[in-house]
Amino acid sequence: MQRTVCFVASAITMSLAAVGAQAADTGQVNIICSVQAEWCNMIGTVYAKTTGTKINVSMKGSGEALAQLAAEKANPKTDIWFGGTGDPHLQAAEMGLTLEYKSPSLTQLHAWAQQQAQQSGYKTVGIYSGPLGFGYNPELLAKKKLPVPKSWADLLKPEYKGDIQVANPASSGTAYTMVATLVQLMGEDKAFEYLKALHKNVGQYTRSGTGPIKAVARAETAVSISFVHDAPGEKMAGFPVETVTPAEGTGAEIGSMSIIKGARNLEAAKKFYEWSLTPAAQEMAAAAKQFQLPSNKTAKNDPHIPDFKSIKFINYDYAKYGASAERSRLIAKWEKDVNSLPR
Ligand code: F6P
Repeated sequence: MQRTVCFVASAITMSLAAVGAQAADTGQVNIICSVQAEWCNMIGTVYAKTTGTKINVSMKGSGEALAQLAAEKANPKTDIWFGGTGDPHLQAAEMGLTLEYKSPSLTQLHAWAQQQAQQSGYKTVGIYSGPLGFGYNPELLAKKKLPVPKSWADLLKPEYKGDIQVANPASSGTAYTMVATLVQLMGEDKAFEYLKALHKNVGQYTRSGTGPIKAVARAETAVSISFVHDAPGEKMAGFPVETVTPAEGTGAEIGSMSIIKGARNLEAAKKFYEWSLTPAAQEMAAAAKQFQLPSNKTAKNDPHIPDFKSIKFINYDYAKYGASAERSRLIAKWEKDVNSLPR
C-alpha cells in the first residue's frame, strides 16, 4: 500500500465550480489513506469532481502512516489522515502530530465515534467501526480436512501449522488490535504465551492488515486473523471466503480520521473532513465494496456490514491501548519476545 494517486476535477466540473460557490476554495488536499484502495480512490475521485479540489492520496497501513507522520513532523506534507485503526490515531494525538478540531457534526455520530474524539482532545474522530475475527477458505479447509476454527484456542492446534496468516503489528493496525484484544482478554502474560504459541502456526506475517484475508480468498492460506468486514468484498469478487468471530470474545476497531498539525492546506482539509462525516460520503464505503459500520447515525447500513449484536465483544479500552507508551511497548515486546522466535 504505497501508491500516491492524484485526483483532479474534469475540465467541465472545474468550470462549473469556478462559477459556483465552491470557487473560492479550491486548495489541494494531501491525504494519507489507510483504508483499501477502492474506497480511497472513490472518495478522491468524487470529492475532486464535486468540489474542484485537487486531491493527492497516498495509501499506507495504520502503523506505517503514523511512522510517516512522525518523520514529517517538522515539515508536514500531509493535511489529512483518513481511516486506519483508531489506536495509532490516538497515539498521533498524544505525540502532537494532529490538530484539535471540534466538528459541528459530532452530535450526528454514534457515541463510540464521539468518544474517540473526546478521548483525543478532539484531535481525531471515529469514521467507522469493525470487529476483529478470523477469515477462512472453506474449500481449502475441506481439502486439507481441517475444521473451521471457532475460538482463539482453536488457532493453536497443531493441524493449522503454517496455515494461518496475520499482519505484523508494527505496520498494521489490524494486527495491533489483535495484540491489544488478547492482552485485554487473557492478561498480558498469558496473551504473550498465546502469541508465542500462535507464532508456530503462522505461515507469514504480512505488512498490511488486509493481506491475510486476500491470501485466504486466493487459497494461499487457509485461515487469517482479520477484520470481518474485509471478507464480503472478496466474496463479491467471486472468492470462497467466510468469517467467524472467536467464542471467547473479540475487539473492534474505531477507524479514525485526523487533521495534521501544521497542515499546509488547512481550510481545504477542514472542508474535506466535514464532507467525510456526512452520510453521503460514508455510504461511499459500501459503494466501493467496503463494509465497515459508518459512524454517522443516519448513514444507511449496507446488509453486508457485520451484525455487531451477534458478536461477543470485550470492553476494549481505546484510551489505554491507544496511549503512545503502551502501544510502543506492546509492539516492541511482540518483536522481541514473539517475532524473533524460530518457527
Ligand atoms: O481498509 C480495511 C481495513 O481493515 C480497515 O477497516 C482498517 O482500519 C485498516 O484496514 C487497517 O489496515 P492495517 O491493518 O494495514 O493498518
